Amino acid sequence: MRFSATDSADRSVLVTEVGTRDGFQVEAEFIPTESKAAVINALIDAGVRSFEATSFVSPRAIPQLADASQLMDQLHRKPGVRLSALVPNARGAERAAAAKVDMMVCFVSASESHCQANLNKPIAQALADVAEFVPIARQYNIPVRGAIAVAFGCPFEGDTAVDSLLRIADTYHELGVRHLSLGDTTGMATPPVVERAVDALQRRFSDMAIALHFHNTRGVGLANVMVGLQMGIREFESSIAGLGGCPFAPGASGNICTEDLVYLLHESGYDTGIDLDRLCEVARQVEALLGRGLPGQVMKAGQRLRRFTLDGARRAVG
Ligand code: COA
Ligand code: ZN
Repeated sequence: MRFSATDSADRSVLVTEVGTRDGFQVEAEFIPTESKAAVINALIDAGVRSFEATSFVSPRAIPQLADASQLMDQLHRKPGVRLSALVPNARGAERAAAAKVDMMVCFVSASESHCQANLNKPIAQALADVAEFVPIARQYNIPVRGAIAVAFGCPFEGDTAVDSLLRIADTYHELGVRHLSLGDTTGMATPPVVERAVDALQRRFSDMAIALHFHNTRGVGLANVMVGLQMGIREFESSIAGLGGCPFAPGASGNICTEDLVYLLHESGYDTGIDLDRLCEVARQVEALLGRGLPGQVMKAGQRLRRFTLDGARRAVG
């Protein structure tokens, strides 16, 4: 087993920032659209190339993201930067296309209970909604990515069977979807659970790019990333400062933190194209925006070779 990237072809990792979607969606107080846009624009300036920026879902379900169209208008688009958004149905697809998203993300839960809580319908109906909107996306030439929620365990039903993942991924594949994202909605993934799921999906689909979306609910998010890297996964989803949660799952907490993920990747020899110091600045700005401390660690401790003066240390200890 090796823990660092070796050949250059293997070294590039795509970090998809989901904080303004997965993170902001659980904030009770409405965050002004300009503030949301400022976070994304600062992240673009720090070198982040991929975002799940917002959701084109029912504003009744997620009031915080009711401003999805206005937000998209305020983002500084750059070549090579992908702005994606969650889309649950045809209505959402039309809104997302009008807002010129670069990618739509369909999402279905691997368990019936979570699907009901999240989308208010059984898995079969949720997949039928996806089947209805994929042609709309195609008509606008917008690629679709298929996300599976509670992919590594469900707070209502327990462990997620690999067969449930394969069934949903099969439907996505039949619809022409070639990007898959496995969501660990409530942080139930562990290294063996990740290995089992990713191995089964990689064996079944040689033509699907797989991304992993971990939450750090039980503190093993970055250990799971290392397993993914070992298995050849080169895309991970994370939230700036460790924002996050799912309003429809008890005990859900923050995503793995973007700046901690980028620190791990860079220290392990992977390239992300992201400037870590600037990323930490944005993380601190997000703490200021929300008015509370957030879980990110590297923004507080600095990088490992950060040096302190002895004088400063004595004062801190004394
Ligand atoms: N965009 C905007 N409005 C939408 C919409 C969309 N994509 N889809 C539905 N709506 C509106 C409907 O027009 C309707 O509005 P009205 O009550 O004013 O007439 C209302 O939302 C309910 O629509 P309905 O089709 O009856 O859906 P529902 O109440 O069964 O909800 C979903 C189904 C999928 C729309 C809703 O559960 C949802 O948006 N869930 C998203 C959950 C989410 O984002 N979770 C976090 C991510 S893991
Ligand atoms: Zn999530």
